[in-house]
Amino acid sequence: MRRAIYPGSFDPITNGHLDLIERAARLFDEVIVAVLINPAKAPLFTVQERVEMIREAVRSSHVRVDTFEGLLVEYARKVKAQVIIRGIRAVSDYEYEFQMALMNRRLDPAIETIFMMPAEPHTYLSSRLVKEVCALGGDVTGLVPPIVERKMREKFSEKLRER
Ligand code: PNS
Repeated sequence: MRRAIYPGSFDPITNGHLDLIERAARLFDEVIVAVLINPAKAPLFTVQERVEMIREAVRSSHVRVDTFEGLLVEYARKVKAQVIIRGIRAVSDYEYEFQMALMNRRLDPAIETIFMMPAEPHTYLSSRLVKEVCALGGDVTGLVPPIVERKMREKFSEKLRER
């Protein structure tokens, strides 16, 4: 059983993430999308909201969505995944990803990191930019799944009402 984990913050999931999940699902028997529980960050969406949006957006049957806390390699061992998948968009992603991959290898040499590239139209996409555009009233159609677009609009109009 070849099992890979695709870890991240997914705040929120974008079509770039989805593209990678579908690609990975063709290569592995099971792909676990693992959402990091990080109390140090102030995300737009709660972990539960993020998990629900991913579940709704993902189509492949052998993709599972889960959450994790603490070290990624420990989680990988726990779920018996041999591979960590990370997406690389531009060269600017490379340095951080390279450091993380080598640190994870040091922590557990049996777990391999595989970098994948999203389809070209998604190379400039990031959760941060999508949130910024949506918060300022820009159109994010086609950049995120419809459920994410809807939930982001709700979040930002809630925030406007709270002001
Ligand atoms: O989507 P992100 O925020 O770029 O994902 C980063 C993530 C979740 C992959 C990374 O922060 C992580 O693995 N955190 C868990 C803690 C850990 O294992 N740290 C050491 C990694 S070198």
